[in-house]
Amino acid sequence: MVEMKQEEFRLIQEFVNEQFGLILSEDKAGSLANKLTPRLVDLRLSSITDYYYHLKFSQDNKSEHHNLISLLTNNETYFFREDAQLKVLAESVLPAIKENRMRKKDRRIRIVSAGCSSGEEAYTLAMILLESGQFLWEWDVQVIGVDIDQAVIAKAEEGIYGGRSVSVTPPQLLERYFRKEGDGYRVKEVLRRITSFRQVNLLEFTDHFAEDSLDIIFCRNVVIYFNDNTVRETVEGFAKALRPDGYLFLGHSESLARITKLYEPLRFTGAVIYQTRQ
Ligand SMILES: C[S@@+](CC[C@H](N)C(=O)[O-])C[C@H]1O[C@@H](n2cnc3c(N)ncnc32)[C@H](O)[C@@H]1O
Repeated sequence: MVEMKQEEFRLIQEFVNEQFGLILSEDKAGSLANKLTPRLVDLRLSSITDYYYHLKFSQDNKSEHHNLISLLTNNETYFFREDAQLKVLAESVLPAIKENRMRKKDRRIRIVSAGCSSGEEAYTLAMILLESGQFLWEWDVQVIGVDIDQAVIAKAEEGIYGGRSVSVTPPQLLERYFRKEGDGYRVKEVLRRITSFRQVNLLEFTDHFAEDSLDIIFCRNVVIYFNDNTVRETVEGFAKALRPDGYLFLGHSESLARITKLYEPLRFTGAVIYQTRQ
């Protein structure tokens, strides 16, 4: 394993905080040295200081930024995570959106899973949309999963999952939307048709999504790793991309109380969600 001096840890710590808003706590020093060792070997660098210069100044540093983020972020996810929020989506948010759109004769719905990891959240949202039966026939409905980590985006596009990912998926939905393939489960075409994935850094969200173009953003268990300024920047970007009455779902431990006034919290049993203030 490569040796990491305390000053070197600080260099990397400051770099990821400034560039990506990620918080790297002191207790991560040991595991960081461990994780960076294969990167140094790949890049033929002999110290963490050289790696830091590579991150900062090399011409192809963008791809290394992505590798580094991939090493630092947690990709843990599964289908039908945090049931209380999904219930709010199905029972309150989708019917409200439908009613609003019918009045305006607008039949387009766009939902983003921001920090989608290997795609379980995006496909879950697609299942909930289809199961709601609210948006059949002439509706133009799309779920878009975005993540900074190209490796998980590739996995999401492949759409094959192990038993752990589907462990709390209701059996009738497993049957309807997946095909058993060896030990795994492959997402069926009916879900793929309305789901797509893209590599996007959430700090550059507004470069990828037009103003007022989205109805709902799920960004759960992502900003927990960001500092407050980065959370603010991220959710302000979301507010631009959301329609004026759009909805934001964060993870249950993530709150906007001290962060921004751009959203109104809406309280439901077991779940708080946010709506852009008009
Ligand atoms: C713990 S997973 C959450 C997955 C899913 N949202 C859920 O709740 O199950 C966090 C994901 O956020 C992604 N992520 C972290 N920082 C990001 C950034 N700046 N831009 C885009 N994705 C990011 C990570 O790559 C990781 O896949």
